[in-house]
Amino acid sequence: MGCAFASAGVIHGGGALLSRCHFDRITARRLSSCSSPSFIPLKVQYAVRASRSLLSVPYGIRCEAAPSTVSRQAFELADVCWDDIGFGIIPTDYMYVMRCPRDGEFSNGTLEPYGNIELSPSSGVLNYGQGLFEGLKAYRKEDGSILLFRPEENGVRMRMGAERLCMPAPTIEQFVDAVKATVLANKRWVPPPGKGSLYIRPLLMGTGAVLGLAPAPEYTFLIYVSPVGNYFKEGLAPINLVIQNDYHRATPGGTGGIKTIGNYASVLKAQSEAKEKGYSDVLYLDSVHKKYLEEVSSCNVFVVKDNTISTPAIRGTILPGITRKSIIDVAVSLGFQVEERLISVEEVLDADEVFCTGTAVVVSPVGSITYHGKRVSYGGGGVGAVSQQLYSVLTRLQMGIAEDKMGWTLQLC
Ligand code: COI
Repeated sequence: MGCAFASAGVIHGGGALLSRCHFDRITARRLSSCSSPSFIPLKVQYAVRASRSLLSVPYGIRCEAAPSTVSRQAFELADVCWDDIGFGIIPTDYMYVMRCPRDGEFSNGTLEPYGNIELSPSSGVLNYGQGLFEGLKAYRKEDGSILLFRPEENGVRMRMGAERLCMPAPTIEQFVDAVKATVLANKRWVPPPGKGSLYIRPLLMGTGAVLGLAPAPEYTFLIYVSPVGNYFKEGLAPINLVIQNDYHRATPGGTGGIKTIGNYASVLKAQSEAKEKGYSDVLYLDSVHKKYLEEVSSCNVFVVKDNTISTPAIRGTILPGITRKSIIDVAVSLGFQVEERLISVEEVLDADEVFCTGTAVVVSPVGSITYHGKRVSYGGGGVGAVSQQLYSVLTRLQMGIAEDKMGWTLQLC
């Protein structure tokens, strides 16, 4: 059975080159017994690979009782080299689309084959940046089932952003139902346990045509997904940040506290300059005093000193991260003192440990911060003990390895 490495599968994100191996006509119905002895060793079966013409024939999940007390499901996996995935787009089978017509409401969402979408050249999102995105993840448990992490929180945050950008938004129930439907339709793309997660990217866009500056007359809510591994190419190794003095991510009264697409376009220049100089990413300071920590381009930041873990308070310029909020609760439950407040740049340079949090980055330890050419290192070149502990507790809960006493996970199948 041949396995060709296709150039179409070469993907870059923050991570490494991705090679996706695929078969031309048939796809082995892979059971993960190859990577973990805990899966039921079923014989390999064959299924015709998904293509547009076959989308009306859904892939079935066959459930079998395991010869042990734990009920395990055989699950079909897409043909991906799971050990190689970074944080880059891997096209999957379906995307979810729901429209809100002029003066109407969001309704009648459908699953469609994943692919390009048609947009008016004068759509609000293209012309005036009237767009929001979200990010959340689905994890495969050892028993084959799939867990979502706090999807309703993303629905709430999207509604807050929509209010700020004068957009209608799906209800939280619509949002969560749409996420579930999209993940289930693409479940063969949820990586095997320990090999990554399915990143879920909901979008809310002003797709109606406008010319004068005004809210668009029509809107589209769309969800696509992609299997992902580590966000930073460093993986879980500590990242190196540089504090940015010339550019700011957000200003008071602006949109830094919502997940609007423009917040991310505006950090690309500083991020590119930092990467050219060998840094992993940029740490932003507040735009008024140029003294207090805000966040990194794509994640929140935490500072550890003794038994206290501090993070910049949410005051409109910082994204209210769901991982941020979860880490605060986990840290409190572990007995740390947690403070949300102003954190000066001097304080971070004197910290014991620094780490970042976000859906994409999860918990990412910081190995060094450079400020005005002075580099301060943390963790002695390794992962700090507090970062490691918080990472382990959170990810074990997200992956269903540890009991979810917080009630944060939602099991799909
Ligand atoms: C996420 O963490 O999900 C984000 O939205 C950050 C993005 C820049 C990858």
